[in-house]
Amino acid sequence: MRIVRTIAELRAALAGAGDVGLVPTMGAFHEGHLSLMRAARAENETVVVSLFVNPAQFGEGADLAGYPREEEHDARVAEEEGVDFLFAPASEEIYPPEFSTWVEVEGLSNVLEGEYRPGHFRGVATVCLKLFNIVGPRRAYFGQKDGQQAALIAQLVRDLNVPLELRVLPTVRDADGLALSSRNAGLSPEERERALAIPRALEAGAAAHRAGGDAVAATRAVLNGIAPDYVEVVRLGGRLVLATAARVGSTRLIDNVVLEGASE
Ligand code: PAJ
Repeated sequence: MRIVRTIAELRAALAGAGDVGLVPTMGAFHEGHLSLMRAARAENETVVVSLFVNPAQFGEGADLAGYPREEEHDARVAEEEGVDFLFAPASEEIYPPEFSTWVEVEGLSNVLEGEYRPGHFRGVATVCLKLFNIVGPRRAYFGQKDGQQAALIAQLVRDLNVPLELRVLPTVRDADGLALSSRNAGLSPEERERALAIPRALEAGAAAHRAGGDAVAATRAVLNGIAPDYVEVVRLGGRLVLATAARVGSTRLIDNVVLEGASE
């Protein structure tokens, strides 16, 4: 595996690389990221993983500085997964001083996560389109864990005629049900125990939906003292999803389950 820092070097390396699968990430790899790398490895000649903690998608002074950075570990595990290129540019490579073009996906950017994280999806959409243009992948891989993000990227790909196939892979969970996330490292053992109410509540909501009941009410009833930012049933892409976000201690967690529609 080669670690690449510049756009020019990556473009040169990918000339004649055949079908490329791209997995965009911000690093601190866990099994969720690895599931995307494995899917990309299985169906592309060349696999590129980008590792870029995108400043544009973090709020003012918020958790950008505290975001986990573990490049050596990440490079090791990506290599073990058979990744060909780890694209890990410096911030100025992606956002040079004169940078001034932003991608806004209307509608989807302003609900759910977008309401609580103004500007977040503008940063996500912009960096993803840049990565698509830099890498020129045949396929790009995203996780259902960030269901709104995946739907937003699908909309962007459609609206701007980006010539790639989007793959959205199921959420990978720990044995106890908690969705894997780099943010889980911020939970104390006691907080982690409390956080388990989130997947349990979503499961209760999904069961209520299957029985023809009120998924949101059933979810809220099991959240067990955790005050969520939102619990909503929404159509994200082709899927009907029950989504929630909640703070446990100082850690903000998001999770969702697919109620209807293909879950790969
Ligand atoms: P990051 O949080 O590193 O996630 C990278 C990819 O891994 C995303 O597509 C995300 O949905 C997926 N992922 C995270 N946890 C997962 C889990 N438990 N199961 C399955 N997939 C999981 O999402 C981002 O980075 C950034 O916003 C990015 C798209 C890279 C743009 O900067």
